[in-house]
Amino acid sequence: MGENLKIISQHFDDPQARHLDHYETHGGYRMARKSSSMAPGDIHGEVKASNLRGRGGAGFPTGVKWGFVPKDAETVYLVVNADESEPGTFKDRHILFWNPHMLLEGMIIAARSLGVRNAYIYIRGEMQREFRVLQDAVDQAYAKGYLGEGIFGSDFDLDITICRGLGAYICGEETALLSSLEGGRGWPRLKPPFPAVKGLWGQPTIVNNVETIANLPWILEHGGQAFADLGVGRSGGLRLVSVCGHVNNPGVYELPLTVTGNDLIEMCGGMREGKAVKGIIPGGVSMPVLTADELDVPFEFDALQNDERIREVETAPGVKFDLGGGRTLRTMAGSGGVVVMDETTDITKAAWRILHFFADESCGQCTPCREGTGWLASVAHRVAFGHGRAGDVELMASIADGIAGNTICALGDAAAWPTLAFLTKFRGEFEDKVKNSHDAAPAGAAGGAP
Ligand SMILES: Cc1cc2nc3c(=O)[nH]c(=O)nc-3n(C[C@H](O)[C@H](O)[C@H](O)COP(=O)(O)O)c2cc1C
Ligand code: SF4
Repeated sequence: MGENLKIISQHFDDPQARHLDHYETHGGYRMARKSSSMAPGDIHGEVKASNLRGRGGAGFPTGVKWGFVPKDAETVYLVVNADESEPGTFKDRHILFWNPHMLLEGMIIAARSLGVRNAYIYIRGEMQREFRVLQDAVDQAYAKGYLGEGIFGSDFDLDITICRGLGAYICGEETALLSSLEGGRGWPRLKPPFPAVKGLWGQPTIVNNVETIANLPWILEHGGQAFADLGVGRSGGLRLVSVCGHVNNPGVYELPLTVTGNDLIEMCGGMREGKAVKGIIPGGVSMPVLTADELDVPFEFDALQNDERIREVETAPGVKFDLGGGRTLRTMAGSGGVVVMDETTDITKAAWRILHFFADESCGQCTPCREGTGWLASVAHRVAFGHGRAGDVELMASIADGIAGNTICALGDAAAWPTLAFLTKFRGEFEDKVKNSHDAAPAGAAGGAP
C-alpha cells in the first residue's frame, strides 16, 4: 500500500476537494453506490474484520458497537459526533472542512448496514465555516440523488440533518449529545442502557466520531482485512493526530499506529528552538501526560494503555490516594489531540489551566464532579501562582481520587486522571511551588476546605 498512504487526508489543503464533482472524479461515492445494493450484514462483516476502533476517545471497536443494536429494532438512528471540543484536538474539523463528502459517503455506508432512515451530524456551534461547507456538501448530495428517497436508484432512503451545538464541551459526551439533539439540556445519562440499545428518542442509536465514519469508504473498497493489516494488533488502519504546542510544525497528520511520541516530534520538524521535551499529552487533555522517558511507546490504543513502563511511581506515604499502592496509572490514545510541552513549561500552570477548563465545563449534575473539579482548579491555581499551602499536593490527589470512578459520565475521570498523572510524574515541581510559596504556610494549614 506504500509507506505514505493516506486514507482521509489525501486532499487536505485542496479547496476543490470539498466539491462533489471533484470527490467523484477521484473515485468518491462509488462505495456508497455499491453499499446501497449490498446486504447490511456483509457491510457489518467488513467493518468487524477491519478492526476499526472509535476515534472519538475511547477506542471502542466499531463493528462490536454496531452489533449491540437489537436485531428486531424498527427504528435505528445514526448520529455523527462532530462536537470536537477536547482541548488539543482539531482533526475532525479538517475532515469537515476539506473532505465533507467522505464523511457523507461513510454515513451512507453505515446507514445501509444499520438500517437507518434518518441520520444526524451534531456539529460544534463554534465551527461556523465547517458548518457552511458541510451543509453545502449535504445540499449537493441531495441534488445529485445521493441522499433522500431511493438513493442511487435503489430502494434505500436516507436523510441527513445537521444540528449545531451551542458551545458546551459536555455535549460531545454521547448521551449528553443525544439529550441536546432531542432539544433538552445537554446532560449525560447513566449507562447502561447504552445508546446502541436506547438512544435518541428511546430508539437504538449508533453514535460515532467523524473520523471513525470517514474511514468506511476505504474499508469497503479495499476490504476489512486490508484495513486491519495497516494497523497493529487489535487496532486497524491509520490515525489522524492533531499536534499542537512546542514543535516547529504543528498540524494534522495521518499516521501509522506504530508511530511513537519521539517519531511524532521528528515528523513535526522537531522541538521549537531546539529545546528539550518535558512531556506530551497523547490524546486530548483528558488523558494522563507522558514524560520524556515514555515517548518510545507507539501512540496506539492498547500500547498506551498497557505498556508496563507507564506506571505510577512511589510518592509520599500517607497520601489518601496511594499512588504507589498497586494501582496503575496508564494513559490512552484518546481523541488524537497531542500537546507537546518543552522544558520551559511550568507544569503546575499547565495543570491549573486544564483543571480550570474542566471545572468550567462540568454540567453540575453529580456532586464529586461539580464540587471536585472546582476545588481542584482552585487548589491548582494557588499552587501554580505562588500561594500554595503545605499539604496541597496531597489535597489535590485526594480530591482527584474522590472524583475518579464516582460520576455519571467520564468528564469526572477526565479531570481526575490527568491530575494524578501530573502530581505523580512532576511531583517535584508542585512541591517546589508550595515550598517557595509567598504565603508562608502555617503548620497544619493543609486539609479542610480548599
Ligand atoms: C466529556 C466528554 C466529551 C466528549 N467529546 C467528544 C467529542 O467532541 N467528539 C467525539 O467524537 N467524542 C467525544 N466523546 C466520546 C463520545 O462520548 C463517544 O464515545 C464517541 O463519540 C463515540 O464515537 P466512536 O466510537 O466513533 O469513538 C466525549 C466523551 C466525554 C466523556
Ligand atoms: S461527571 Fe461532571 S459532566 Fe459528567 S454528568 Fe457528572 S457533573 Fe456532569
